[in-house]
Amino acid sequence: MEILWKVEDLFKEYEIKSEFERKKITVLKNINLEIYKGETFGLVGESGSGKTTFGKILIRLIDPDNGRIFFKDLEITKMPESQLRKYRKKFQIIFQDPYKSLNPRICCGYTVMEGIDGNKKEKIEKAIEILNDVGIKKERFYDYPHQFSGGERQRIAIARALSTNPEFIVCDEPTSNLDVSIQGQILNLFIDLKEKFNLTYLFITHNLKIIKFIADRVAIMYKGEIVEMNKTEEIFKNPSHPYTFKLLKNEI
Ligand SMILES: Nc1ncnc2c1ncn2[C@@H]1O[C@H](COP(=O)(O)OP(=O)(O)OP(=O)(O)O)[C@@H](O)[C@H]1O
Ligand SMILES: [Mg+2]
Repeated sequence: MEILWKVEDLFKEYEIKSEFERKKITVLKNINLEIYKGETFGLVGESGSGKTTFGKILIRLIDPDNGRIFFKDLEITKMPESQLRKYRKKFQIIFQDPYKSLNPRICCGYTVMEGIDGNKKEKIEKAIEILNDVGIKKERFYDYPHQFSGGERQRIAIARALSTNPEFIVCDEPTSNLDVSIQGQILNLFIDLKEKFNLTYLFITHNLKIIKFIADRVAIMYKGEIVEMNKTEEIFKNPSHPYTFKLLKNEI
């Protein structure tokens, strides 16, 4: 299997400053893992365990303090922004809250057009096509975020991510803020789009049911460490770490 991402000894700490003290908290403790091309790699862990930080560091939205990041054999850990720009379009991230992630003053069609190359006519045509792929009809091209439901807004955020023709998407709890009845539709959309566009996902969630449904392999993160990593089936059949046991028990 082709390795798309490899991280070695990824380490990150934050300094917390208060009126009285300064202290450092370690958020990622020497993470080592690989993500294969074409898979959905699930990342599970409790709140504050470092999942979002990991996702952002991987695609260089924030810098690690230590460790190395490889995208297809190419080390990008310290690649200067000017060089990284070439790759930026290949990596996308979709956040939890579709209410915050869209600009309220830009209509949905224009939001998607921003990531597309070409002249205006080409951009409009392509944006219509991508919106259609995520289930937003072209009659809604000039509608603004407030005119859409939460699920529809998340579809627009997904269309915007697709607009740059990415190879890899960090999906950071993309259905957690949605109505339960809508979550399944959006998860199915992710699955369909992965096929259609040959995508690889890092899928972050608290929800083990979602992981079971969508992930090929899973890493369990606990206080900044990967305590267990395996094929999804195996994790559910033979959890080996006490924290994973606890997670599974709470869920059932
Ligand atoms: N910019 C920052 N400055 C200081 N501390 C931060 C910063 N960003 C995150 N942290 C801290 O790092 C830790 C990990 O945060 P992170 O957002 O990665 O966790 P998470 O696993 O995504 O949590 P959640 O499930 O709640 O989204 C937390 O203790 C958080 O408070
Ligand atoms: Mg998070």
